[in-house]
Amino acid sequence: MHIVDWSGDGPAVVLLDQRALPQATEYLHLTTVDGVVDAVRTLAVRGAPNLGVAGAFGAALAAHLHPGDPAAARAEADRVARARPTAVPLALGVRRALTRLADGPAAVLAEARAVAADGARVNAAATTRAADLLQALCPARPVRLLTVCNTGELACGEGGSALGAALRLHERGALAEVLACETRPLLQGARLTVWELARAGVPHRLCVDSAGPAAIATGRVDAVVVGADRIAADGDVANKIGTYMLACAAARSGVPFVVVAPEETIDPTTPTGADIVVEERGADEVLGFGGATTTLPGTPVFNPAFDVTPAALVTAIVTEERAWEQAVTTSGAAAPSRR
Ligand code: MRU
Repeated sequence: MHIVDWSGDGPAVVLLDQRALPQATEYLHLTTVDGVVDAVRTLAVRGAPNLGVAGAFGAALAAHLHPGDPAAARAEADRVARARPTAVPLALGVRRALTRLADGPAAVLAEARAVAADGARVNAAATTRAADLLQALCPARPVRLLTVCNTGELACGEGGSALGAALRLHERGALAEVLACETRPLLQGARLTVWELARAGVPHRLCVDSAGPAAIATGRVDAVVVGADRIAADGDVANKIGTYMLACAAARSGVPFVVVAPEETIDPTTPTGADIVVEERGADEVLGFGGATTTLPGTPVFNPAFDVTPAALVTAIVTEERAWEQAVTTSGAAAPSRR
């Protein structure tokens, strides 16, 4: 499945439009930087690692649209990098592709393709390590996992991250089920994670977001596994809104809370979770459901796309390079120890 790609037919970025899933499989053929920026902002393409790939191809598009004018190409590519603030890979993907700008548009495109190819290798290593860790943490029986948002191929490219670890366990016969939180307001869990799990034949159930902590508290979950958009240097994790309440519930019940993400998501220039810029999105996403208005028109809204889980509530952050294990506290107050 091609989720983010380059068109062989003229300079264009081709995206599977995730806004239309699961009802329709539609592709966008983007020939302008404005089109790429809009696709990123409206979540036609989404998920931190795939935003990196989209950013890299967006930079390649900018280079093709401004051959012989590197300053203009760079300025256009920067607009893609700034389209959403929280996920680390978006700006990294743009920046990496632009390292070849002096060598011409074809070189920028080659680098963008390398960003996509590296992602698949990273995912394979991280998900294998995460599956090993989850089996070690939950040895008694096939594991019952809880997750939020979408961290499969749609978000991360081939192999996925947190959802990829669930798929690895399924392949090993070591997975009982995935409980997927629907992920209000844009329903990445209900629309995308369920779609990926059904296609892979993985046993799953869907729950409303507020049922997640209850499922943990009542012994229905062996481990929580989530992705990350940005991880601060101290191990605090920004992920989809609704993650923090799952981490609180998991710590309270002694259930492992495992984060799976590429190493590049750990940002040494962001010291703590308090320094992470959390994207706030438009009111329209909250004021209605399924096309129907559900509240009084004009109601003021708080709509953060992400929340930050303190390192003290995280059992381990698993990347392609390491399992960064934390000392979980039920209060989240104590400083974590790391190795
Ligand atoms: O707003 P999104 O859909 O781009 O959010 C990103 C995510 O998919 C999640 O936060 C995810 O858990 C981390 S990225 C694989």
